[in-house]
Amino acid sequence: GKKVGIVGATGAVGEEIVGCLEKRGFAVSELKLFASARSAGKVKETPMGEVTIQEFSLESARDCDFVFLAVGGDFAKEYAEKLTEGSGPIVIDNSSAWRMDPDVPLVVPEINLEACKGKKLIANPNCTTAIAIMALYPLHKEFGVKKCIVSTYQAASGAGAPGMNELLDETKKYVTTGEMPANKIFAHPLPLNVIPHIDVFQENLYTKEEMKVTWETRKILDVPDMAVSCTSVRIPTMRAHSEAVTIETEKPITTESARKVLEAAAGVTLVDDPEASKYPMPLTATGKYDVEVGRVRANDVFGEHGLDFFVCGDQLLRGAALNAVLIAEGLVA
Ligand code: HSE
Repeated sequence: GKKVGIVGATGAVGEEIVGCLEKRGFAVSELKLFASARSAGKVKETPMGEVTIQEFSLESARDCDFVFLAVGGDFAKEYAEKLTEGSGPIVIDNSSAWRMDPDVPLVVPEINLEACKGKKLIANPNCTTAIAIMALYPLHKEFGVKKCIVSTYQAASGAGAPGMNELLDETKKYVTTGEMPANKIFAHPLPLNVIPHIDVFQENLYTKEEMKVTWETRKILDVPDMAVSCTSVRIPTMRAHSEAVTIETEKPITTESARKVLEAAAGVTLVDDPEASKYPMPLTATGKYDVEVGRVRANDVFGEHGLDFFVCGDQLLRGAALNAVLIAEGLVA
């Protein structure tokens, strides 16, 4: 087994990493859970037994084979290289700190695991990118994606446990008192609302969340000039992101040929039976490892080269923890 450390072990993503390691049968000889001083000393029941949470120390974390970073970008910027130096562990970072660094691979294991070769610091993509790309990649391989327009419907879990708590608390208070309490995590109250604002606005009037979809999709698919435009919207769901995607392809594409490709794709479950009211939804995608893809249809906006589809994926699993654990799994295979 491997010695595994999780930094940010008490956060929403950290907890899911523990769960994925167990459910996927990843052989762990020792599990180290790192969190803030506030949580240090608490004993956590994990599927691998009781583990006492410790405050992060470089020395203790460097004594691992794999370290998952499920904390903010500032921490990752400061510690990732110090961790991997010399005989240090392989670090899989869930933050955006290193994703666009040309020396750091940005990895979705089903797509570009080989990019990890010889690397000790590996970046996990943004959830929105990781979920849509499960459908985009097989379509790109078969038909060549030239242009891509994405509209997202993102769950509260994208802002971690505090975001999920805020949505629940605000909803409860609103339902019981009729008054909408003040928001702290999101830009506006989220219940009964949609907010077209995730992360900070850029000079080009896109948000950083939207630009991540452009930057990261290009990097993972290795198409630096792919035309990608995204509108990212927060909606009052808990933990599965949904995305409506329109593509223009190099080769002609039809509903049937696209469905066939998606049906065979790793990490994708085709849920596409409109007559039976079957299509992807957060309700059904939550807790699943695969992303659901449906509403597949050729669009004639791009002649015979256009396709629309809808994808839903568990933001904490494929969008974060599962992807990270699959990378580690691929590296020990
Ligand atoms: N930035 C995303 C969101 C989470 O806010 O939904 C990505 O991991």
